[in-house]
Amino acid sequence: MKEKDVSTLLNPVRTPEDLQFEDNLRPKNFVEFIGQENIKANLKIFIKAARKRNDHLDHVLLYGPPGLGKTSLAFLIAKEMGVGIKPSSGPVIERTGDLSAILTNLQQKEVLFLDEIHRLHPSVEEILYSAMEDFNLDILIGQGPSARSHKLRLKKFTLIGATTRAGRITAPLRSRFGIISRLDYYNEDDLKKIIIRSASILNISIDKAGAQQIARRSRGTPRVANRLLRRVRDYVEVIAEGKITAKEATKALDMMEVDSLGLDEVDRKMLETIIENFRGGPVGITTIAAAIDEEKETIESIYEPFLMRIGFLERTTRGRQVTQKAYKHLGFTPQKPFFPQKNLFKEDKKQEND
Ligand SMILES: Nc1ncnc2c1ncn2[C@@H]1O[C@H](COP(=O)(O)OP(=O)(O)OP(=O)(O)O)[C@@H](O)[C@H]1O
Ligand SMILES: [Mg+2]
Repeated sequence: MKEKDVSTLLNPVRTPEDLQFEDNLRPKNFVEFIGQENIKANLKIFIKAARKRNDHLDHVLLYGPPGLGKTSLAFLIAKEMGVGIKPSSGPVIERTGDLSAILTNLQQKEVLFLDEIHRLHPSVEEILYSAMEDFNLDILIGQGPSARSHKLRLKKFTLIGATTRAGRITAPLRSRFGIISRLDYYNEDDLKKIIIRSASILNISIDKAGAQQIARRSRGTPRVANRLLRRVRDYVEVIAEGKITAKEATKALDMMEVDSLGLDEVDRKMLETIIENFRGGPVGITTIAAAIDEEKETIESIYEPFLMRIGFLERTTRGRQVTQKAYKHLGFTPQKPFFPQKNLFKEDKKQEND
């Protein structure tokens, strides 16, 4: 697999600089966390109730596309609960012993944040069941015939799990979360507020119309909004010297090939490939991934949800299909779909509805 171009707009590969930049912009309280009003309202009630009872907060599962604020929200929840947070992630915890060590070190009411929780190893996940349900840890001491099972009592903690792939979470794990919240894409107004807030933290001069232009092309995602703001700032500093206005923002975004709906080169490549090579589909996801040299997982978690949301892509039982709306936007003449079964990988055939 060739090395990924880290400069793409959605940039699944985040550099340390990107991470530092994100941390600086993370909302510090619920007021600064813009949008997602329903989720915030509910969480506030649950947090208030838990604090009143002087109890731990129920386990929380946060899911939704990347960059919508799951990690930010997890840290906010811990802060509002007035407790510490220990962050980790599914793929990092390789052995049951690793998880046992983390769990036994948790303080009363403390938050364990597990990012990418859908990627937990099955044997690790199994240990989590009783830990979540009745704060017991079943551990095996010794090996072979002399091995003994021990029950260890844990302090009452809160697990916050985050995932971009809710469908991948097993039923037993899912059922152990008391609070399940789905983050949705943001509207333009909220993104505008996020951009104005970020600009003030970063000392960037921007007017409302400039923020609006960036918001419009941020594909409903705060992370993309912040990243575009940074890129437009660079452009304005080098080329226009000064404030980000609608005119400068538009010029900069055009130059970066971010189109009026926020589609970037990978979105376009994916849609154009389906249109040109597969007559608009339906075509299987593995076939698409191979054709455009992207990871299937990246397409499924980053590109596809947004293209479906704006009505450019549909999922059918036979595969992904580009809509007439997308044809129009990309300047193609719509064609009748056909069914390129012979182009489907075996894997596509069995799991198109995954
Ligand atoms: N509601 C919001 N208000 C203000 N800024 C936000 C909001 N949501 C996210 N952000 C900003 O967007 C960036 C990405 O958010 P975050 O890392 O929390 O997303 P995520 O859902 O955890 O993404 P991933 O799935 O990739 O882990 C952060 O820098 C944060 O500052
Ligand atoms: Mg995150």
